[in-house]
Amino acid sequence: MQDLVIRRPDDWHLHLRDGDMLKGVIADTSRHFARAIIMPNLVPPVVTAADAAAYRERILAALPAGDRFEPLMTLYLTEGTDPDDVEAGHKSGLVKAVKLYPAGATTNSHSGVRNIDKAMPVLERMAKIGVPLCVHGEVTTSDVDIFDREAVFIETVLDPLRKRLPELKVTMEHVTTKDGIDYIKASKANLAGSITTHHLIINRNAILVGGIKPHYYCLPVAKRENHRLALRAAAVSGDKRFFLGTDSAPHVDPLKECACGCAGIYTSINTMSCLAHVFEEEGALDKLEAFASLNGPAWYGLPVNDETITLRKQADAVTYPKKIETGAGLVTVFDPMFPLHWTVV
Ligand code: DOR
Ligand code: ZN
Repeated sequence: MQDLVIRRPDDWHLHLRDGDMLKGVIADTSRHFARAIIMPNLVPPVVTAADAAAYRERILAALPAGDRFEPLMTLYLTEGTDPDDVEAGHKSGLVKAVKLYPAGATTNSHSGVRNIDKAMPVLERMAKIGVPLCVHGEVTTSDVDIFDREAVFIETVLDPLRKRLPELKVTMEHVTTKDGIDYIKASKANLAGSITTHHLIINRNAILVGGIKPHYYCLPVAKRENHRLALRAAAVSGDKRFFLGTDSAPHVDPLKECACGCAGIYTSINTMSCLAHVFEEEGALDKLEAFASLNGPAWYGLPVNDETITLRKQADAVTYPKKIETGAGLVTVFDPMFPLHWTVV
């Protein structure tokens, strides 16, 4: 047996959904995590500060009794987002970031941004008052291969935007490529990246070899092995610019296992077990706390959590359910394809 005590972690990118799904998944996050940045891609999306306040109340109402968990709310950027509303929401402490979904990039992104010029007034205000922009960093034009969408986004959208607004704080969410890692490492200020649990574990073979595996399909899609290795190196490096954002994204099985399956991998329940495994494999257990509990708060200007959690390595494998029943339907749990031995006690 081996114990590892770390500050209570936070999840800097999470999909909780709404209604029965929210009620069915929230405990898997609040069990281990103190806070999470909540994605706003509901139907309809969380566009205004009033939407975010109402959604926050629904999240708090869905929490299991006794769980202390703080949802960190984001707004969904549209070409019509009102800079004054963002500013007021931020000043009140409610709005922690604004999320850029290029229109068409992923689940419920059709209200997202088609022409970034149209969002400049709000981006300028955010730069001025210090509201971070969380970015889904993929272009969506059909001429760009899906495996190149992140690299092309950096070159054609993100880098020009950062040159135009150097004061804007940008979180490149769910980085999936060496290009993304290198771009963040080369930056001098105002850029950080979150990395998911699953992108540290799978490459694109998981989706496509031996039959098509919808439960390994997410966006940005997992890339080649060299990219996974770059993500791992960044995650375990202790570099303050990299932190955990699980992008845990529940969809019921019928919406994954069909002719046009949804993107999203559900990892909230076993993320800490998976991460301890990965960090141990990399000989970097001493860096897990930085990645999961310290670097994120530093970037978002929040205190680290006072509480700690204990991870324990045991001889017997730790098992998780293959699927969870959510009330909205069954959701398949991420299978890392190796036995897990670390558990949160
Ligand atoms: O795989 C994903 N699922 N990527 C996203 O960007 C959105 C998410 C979702 O909402 O299902
Ligand atoms: Zn996401």
